[in-house]
Amino acid sequence: MCGIVGAIAERNVVPILVEGLRRLEYRGYDSAGLAVVNGADGLKRVRTPGKVAALDALLEDEPVQGGLGIAHTRWATHGVPNEANAHPHICRDQVAVVHNGIIENYAEIRAEQERLGYEFASDTDTEVIATRIHFHLEQGAGLVEAVRKTTGELEGAYAIGVVDTREPDRIVGARMGPPLLVGLGVGEHFLTSDVAALIPVTQRFLVLEDGDIAELERDRVTVYDRSGEVVEREESLSELSADAVERGQYRHYMQKEIFEQPEAIANTLEGRIHGSRVLEAAFGPDAKAIFNRVQSVQIVACGTSFHAGLVARNWFEGLAGIPCNVEVASEFRYRHPVPRADALVVAISQSGETADTLAAVRGAREIGFGPVLSIVNAPESSLVRESDLVLMTRAGPEIGVASTKAFTTQLTALLLLVVALGRRRALSSESEHRIVEQLRSLPGVCERVLALDEHVHSLAGRFADKHHALFLGRGVQYPVAMEGALKLKEISYIHAEAYPAGELKHGPLALVDADMPVVAVAPNDALLEKLKSNLEEVRARGGELYVFADQNAGVRPSPSVHVLEVPPMGEHITPIVYTIPLQLLAYYAAVLKGTDIDQPRNLAKSVTVE
Ligand code: AGP
Repeated sequence: MCGIVGAIAERNVVPILVEGLRRLEYRGYDSAGLAVVNGADGLKRVRTPGKVAALDALLEDEPVQGGLGIAHTRWATHGVPNEANAHPHICRDQVAVVHNGIIENYAEIRAEQERLGYEFASDTDTEVIATRIHFHLEQGAGLVEAVRKTTGELEGAYAIGVVDTREPDRIVGARMGPPLLVGLGVGEHFLTSDVAALIPVTQRFLVLEDGDIAELERDRVTVYDRSGEVVEREESLSELSADAVERGQYRHYMQKEIFEQPEAIANTLEGRIHGSRVLEAAFGPDAKAIFNRVQSVQIVACGTSFHAGLVARNWFEGLAGIPCNVEVASEFRYRHPVPRADALVVAISQSGETADTLAAVRGAREIGFGPVLSIVNAPESSLVRESDLVLMTRAGPEIGVASTKAFTTQLTALLLLVVALGRRRALSSESEHRIVEQLRSLPGVCERVLALDEHVHSLAGRFADKHHALFLGRGVQYPVAMEGALKLKEISYIHAEAYPAGELKHGPLALVDADMPVVAVAPNDALLEKLKSNLEEVRARGGELYVFADQNAGVRPSPSVHVLEVPPMGEHITPIVYTIPLQLLAYYAAVLKGTDIDQPRNLAKSVTVE
């Protein structure tokens, strides 16, 4: 959460900072601000509640400039999203700090600082960092040393950027937990929490490691490790292009990302299947040795990625005969699970920076689970670096807060993994051939389902005045229903819950009336007839049904049963494909409600705090 940009250059860095924030806004958008150091003018700060556009408008009215600055877009943790709590936080007009993360011992530090005479202007945990750095500077430390002493006193997670008017030729960054990268230019250098922010100015990056402190000057970058030694961090080249994060002809990023799914899935599959087989080499050189030892799978993930894990459990157990446990990472990390050394830990994450997922992976290692395989979309992420094996989803940047192409590419990647592990167990080569064939057909089938866009749009019109909705699925479609409900609630703010259809009569049926739309996912599978009986239970109680059904499923439309006919497809890919009309339904319901689709209230794209 939150986005950090910093820049030191010969030119005015304000446009770089603002453009960087605009590109990072998906990480948090409660408030935005920047501070620049400009020679005799000292420190200039501009900040505002709301989005980067509001900051831009302020800067039009009161332009500032400087060759050195830091900027921030915030997702509030401590303190409401108002101007006083917006970053950068400043101490005595000398030190400015932007911060991503949570300082757990901030109350103690704040009490100590108040005792020393420091005054606080915000409710944030960040302000203690600024005052503490100031304190150490006053004791005679230079900026790098003051940051080192301060970070040594902090408990919790942080990525910070710091400037000091008395050292107007450097920016100092430090990382423990949330990501922080240094962007390399020629005669100019940058700091950021996400490469996407800096793509217009550089594609060359150093990824800082936990405990690192980076000192950025115009002509050099020095990185110190946690023991204070100068270290070389390997330079990497980002593959992101500037227009990969543009919205193009689409009205929203979410819409663009929904329609990018055929291409994204094709990219996920590229070079990973050959003939009728999944290529094990796709998982890395160590895959064979690791896969040979695996007896079970433990999946950890959050939100949409957790739903992908739930779908995969059906595949691991049903297709491959491999015991599979799936758990929300924030629960797993504190639950004291019994470790199994022969279990492959599979972490699923779009961002690769989700704090709970990272902690679950680290915890699993500590207590003795087996190796970690991650399914990740962001190549420069922490999860990639901390895993034994990685399968990149290659969906391209996902900017909309609601995850769409990340989910369907995660499922595609998971099905590849199911095959790679399953062929050592219950999966026959005929089944492998069938699955690979169906995977090959996926981009085309997704295109055909996207062509149903207008029909889904018209159905969505019936949701715009509703306050609640139920989503039903059975078997592997139950997590698909969960994902559909999550999409609807997060972007349209319509309360939505998913149930396995067989559970209806155990309680939720009491909610069904004409004002409670019930959405069901009905491919032509072994559970179809059971599902149809459940749908009859809804119809008999006067419920309004929206059934996304296979053309051959025999679900008949009526005034209270709206059917979206989905073309037939191979049984193994149905969870991937049936997700798409649910995404479209949520999208159009939100369009009609006029919500902020790409940046829904209270949420952020990348949840790097606990
Ligand atoms: C879903 O639309 C959300 N974006 C959210 O549930 C997300 O999937 C979750 O926060 C996990 O993020 P990750 O995949 O980046 O780890």
